[in-house]
Amino acid sequence: MSIETIKIFDTTLRDGEQSPGASMNTEEKIQIAIQLEKLGVDIIEAGFAAASPGDFEAISKIAERVTNSTVCSLARAVDRDIKSAGEAIAKAKLKRIHTFIATSPIHMEHKLKMTPDEVIRRAVRAVEYAREFVEDIEFSCEDAGRSDIGFLKEISDAVIEAGATTINLPDTVGFRLPFEIGEMVRTMSEYTKGRAIISVHNHNDLGLGVANSLEAVLNGARQIECTINGLGERAGNAALEEIVMALKVRGDVFKDFKTNINTKEIYPTSRLIANITGIEPQPNKAIVGKNAFAHESGIHQDGMLKNRETYEIMSPETIGLVKDDTLVLGKHSGRAAFRDKLAKLGFTLEDEALNASFERFKILADRKKEIYDDDLRALVTNEMTKATQIYELISLQLMDFSEGTPSSVVKIRKDDEVLVEASIGEGTIDAIFKTIDRISGFNGKLQDYKVKSVSQGKDALASVTVKVAFNDKEPAIIGHGLHIDTMLASARAYIGALNSYLSMEGMLKKRHSDSSQTI
Ligand code: KIV
Ligand code: ZN
Repeated sequence: MSIETIKIFDTTLRDGEQSPGASMNTEEKIQIAIQLEKLGVDIIEAGFAAASPGDFEAISKIAERVTNSTVCSLARAVDRDIKSAGEAIAKAKLKRIHTFIATSPIHMEHKLKMTPDEVIRRAVRAVEYAREFVEDIEFSCEDAGRSDIGFLKEISDAVIEAGATTINLPDTVGFRLPFEIGEMVRTMSEYTKGRAIISVHNHNDLGLGVANSLEAVLNGARQIECTINGLGERAGNAALEEIVMALKVRGDVFKDFKTNINTKEIYPTSRLIANITGIEPQPNKAIVGKNAFAHESGIHQDGMLKNRETYEIMSPETIGLVKDDTLVLGKHSGRAAFRDKLAKLGFTLEDEALNASFERFKILADRKKEIYDDDLRALVTNEMTKATQIYELISLQLMDFSEGTPSSVVKIRKDDEVLVEASIGEGTIDAIFKTIDRISGFNGKLQDYKVKSVSQGKDALASVTVKVAFNDKEPAIIGHGLHIDTMLASARAYIGALNSYLSMEGMLKKRHSDSSQTI
């Protein structure tokens, strides 16, 4: 029997971004897409083009950058969404539109208020219209897990006839058990008999997303939808790293299958996502958690010393987790050592990004004695994903923050101008953000503020993530700031969010004038 490839469809940038607090700016999404391509995913769901101008922009840019993976946009089964999706992925070398409509009785009756016949007609229209843009069309029966199998067959016949090439059967609410998913997938793959690829998309509400995906493979699914670190709506989606490593480590069971994933890129990809979203995998998370390869008890350590296989079913190196203590960087390290270290951590930077990161590394090395791998990862990720620097922080001065009224003086560069303002606030952070508001003329509403330490030690880097709404009509924007000083990291994060907002506003105006030219 020949070995079959299981396509890995990554939806970190779409379903993953739907995790609370996981929104990303365009630059961040581009860097993630580039890393996903390096990881070897077959399809990158880059976003939901019609959801917002920011999503549209990010998908279009990813479409221009990524060449080896198929770039896909989600679209509801409505013309407006499909048109946006088609336009956003237009420049991709390999492109797909993923359209969906709910097929379960509860969704059709209460959410869509449509009859099953109307749903089929809408689905067929969506696929036919998508064909005006692409040949590769995925159709999802949303809430397939709770849909009637007879209806799934009927709608699949109709959309395959209309041109759908992949039929996705999502367990949208994470309700099903492995044997039930297996049965649904087996029935549908026997029924469709190779007319379309059968795909699954399992949510993790009962912690079964990965188990359900593996059972689906054994029953005929040839595409799995998943996310890095298991990000996603509510309890998340099936985790890519767990699925891929289960298929590999249990090659005895999955001997007829392979994926195109380069497993050595799993750890670097997981760290990139955690650094960008600020969402750390739980320490005991399989494969990529901080403790996934830690052996704490004496008995285990003894066993490991005698033979690693006593307690290790896979080596950390297989997922690209390399403990490299041979190259310790400090303030005397040169550019070559820096480049070498970054390469070992999985970063390949072009000259401009390397120079900018090296400058930041030098500044950090002057203040921080030991620079850990995690510091470098955070620093380089932060540098690579910065929005255009419309406002740039020069300095920050704080007064009276132990007693009395906290106040701050902020100096910022905008184009060739240096702007200085001062303000008081309820607390120090409030004073800083109010001062930045004064300078920029915005009145940002802070919706979330998170601070974490990147590595260990009193001189650890602080990583601050803020979520700010600069305009009541637009979604809030995420900003990240990194500095040894938490207040400076906070100011940078706020300015980062402002810069992202302004870049997006600029892009909105551009799209508006582009479309008025064509009318
Ligand atoms: O969970 C789900 O059903 C989805 C679809 C849009 C594929 O995310
Ligand atoms: Zn989903």
